This record gives sequence, C-alpha cells and structure tokens, in this order.
Amino acid sequence: MARKIIIDTDPGQDDAVAILLALASPELEVLGITAVAGNVPLPLTAKNARIICEVAGRPETPVFAGCDAPLTRPLVSAEHVHGRTGLDGPELWEPEMALQSQHAVDFIIETLRTEPLGKVTLATLGPLTNIGKAFSQAPDIIPNVAEIVAMGGAYFEVGNITPAAEFNIYVDPEAADIVLKSGVKITIMPLDLTHKALVTKRRNDAFRSLGNRTGTFTAEMTEFFERFDKEKYGSEGAPLHDPTVIAYLLAPELFTGRFINVEVETQSDLTLGMTVADWWGVTDRAPNATFMGDIDADGFFTLLTQRLARLP
Ligand code: BDR
Ligand code: CA
Repeated sequence: MARKIIIDTDPGQDDAVAILLALASPELEVLGITAVAGNVPLPLTAKNARIICEVAGRPETPVFAGCDAPLTRPLVSAEHVHGRTGLDGPELWEPEMALQSQHAVDFIIETLRTEPLGKVTLATLGPLTNIGKAFSQAPDIIPNVAEIVAMGGAYFEVGNITPAAEFNIYVDPEAADIVLKSGVKITIMPLDLTHKALVTKRRNDAFRSLGNRTGTFTAEMTEFFERFDKEKYGSEGAPLHDPTVIAYLLAPELFTGRFINVEVETQSDLTLGMTVADWWGVTDRAPNATFMGDIDADGFFTLLTQRLARLP
C-alpha cells in the first residue's frame, strides 16, 4: 500500500524536482500539496506547485494555498537564488488547474483528523509556517502524524541565508521551534547532507537526455538554480536540497544520520534560526530528531533520474 504524504512546499526549483520525484513514485500517495510563502511570495509558490503538477501530467493533485507570511515575522524571500518567479529557467505558463478553495492549514488539520491514526507523513520543503500553525491551532492532530521529514537546518555547514542559519528555518524559526518540540517523529535533511548532493554537469546532462518533457524542464530549472551556489561556493554543481526528503521516503538506506537533540534559536539577532544540533552528545538534552549527515549521492541521483524518466 502506498504511503500517504502531504507535501508542504515553497517552489522553488529544488522543491519542484522533489514534487516531480514524489509524483513519479507509486510508493507514495500525494494527498495534497500545501503551498507556503518562502522562496517567493505565496501567490507564486501556489502557482508554481500547479505548474509542476501539470508538467508531471497530474493535474488532479489537490494544491492548497497556506500562510502568506511567517507566524510572527515579515517574510524573507530568496529571489536572488530562485529568480523572480521562483522557478526561473524553463518557460512558464499560467496553470490550467485550479487552486483548492480550502486553506492549506485547514486541509492539513482535516486530513490528520480523518485519515487513520499514524498513516500520514508530512514532507516539508520550505519554512514550517503551515505545520506550526496547524499544530498550534489543532494540537489534537499532533499524535496522528506518522512522521515529519523536513529539509532545513545545518550544523557543520552552519548557514546559507545568514552565516548562522539555513533559509527554511531562518524564515520562520518560531514555526520550526513548535515542530521540533511537538514530540512527532522527525527526520531532518540539513545543509550538511544536501551539500553532498551536487548537480554536476554529468548529472544535469542525464536529466536532459531523458528525452521527455520532465527531463528538459528539470535540466532547465537546475541549470538556472545552479549558477548562484556555483559562484558562491566555487563547487562543481549546486546542492539539490528538497528532493532528498522524498528520496528518503523511497530509499532510506541512501542516508545516514544521528538521533540527537536539535533546537532552534529564536531570540538572538546574530544567530536567529540557527539549528543547534547536539551531534557530539555534549548535553543531556533529550534527542528529538534524526539529523542526517551523509548521503549516497550517486544512488540518490540514479533514483531521481530513473523516476523522472517515468513522467511525460
Ligand atoms: C532551502 O531553501 C530554499 O531556497 C530551498 O528551496 C530549500 O528548501 C535550502 O536552504
Ligand atoms: Ca524549498
């Protein structure tokens, strides 16, 4: 039986590749895609999520718009990385599929109340605002969540949006704090791991040579997305962050990490949004998350490329 997931996301080229991977994978049943403000403002993330469903030939996938700003702060977005549309690279269009009228937070709450206990996994690819809001508004749903697999945070790599913080956590540290303290089983894909999953030229060429619409679309997105990190880090390719979340659901054996205490800084101006991960076990704070540290990058890109080949 397919594993039921809700994808919470702020597309974003790497979010888009994650959504394509999920829609290409029969092991996963995508109950809905919930958009949040993040890389670009909400109207664009909600639109981009629908464009991606259309690329995948899956316009029946329900897409919901959620929070348009973090719980207590103004939105910080990342057009400098993702471009003005959030999906710069390929030619984009106005999606034909409609947005659902229900608010994403209400959809998350309703789904967790109506699906059988412990059967819905939350795959989060952006700031955790929608999830933090759902957990605060309806704490009864928290024990119903099977697992949260989240892209966010960093320990050894420290920050990308500030010297201390990773973007998804920095944008809404209060929401991340709610999630990390919720007691739900949580697995985190930090920069420590995603910076080992680089889209090299060879890997990008493999997407392009699939010969399908999805392969070309993916290569055009990742080529655009790459330029920023390649210039910044001087690496041979840019990290493909968000698809690691979906790959973990499909092939957890590609990943290794540690079950440790992870907490978020919500006060300091200097280190706001930093994930303080007790990787070395130097405190007696209770473990609350599996913090991934390593990935079989070739295995990950092989899985991704094989799956994308199945789409139109
Ligand atoms: C995360 O921030 C966004 O720019 C990406 O989509 C990813 O979710 C990486 O820090
Ligand atoms: Ca994202």
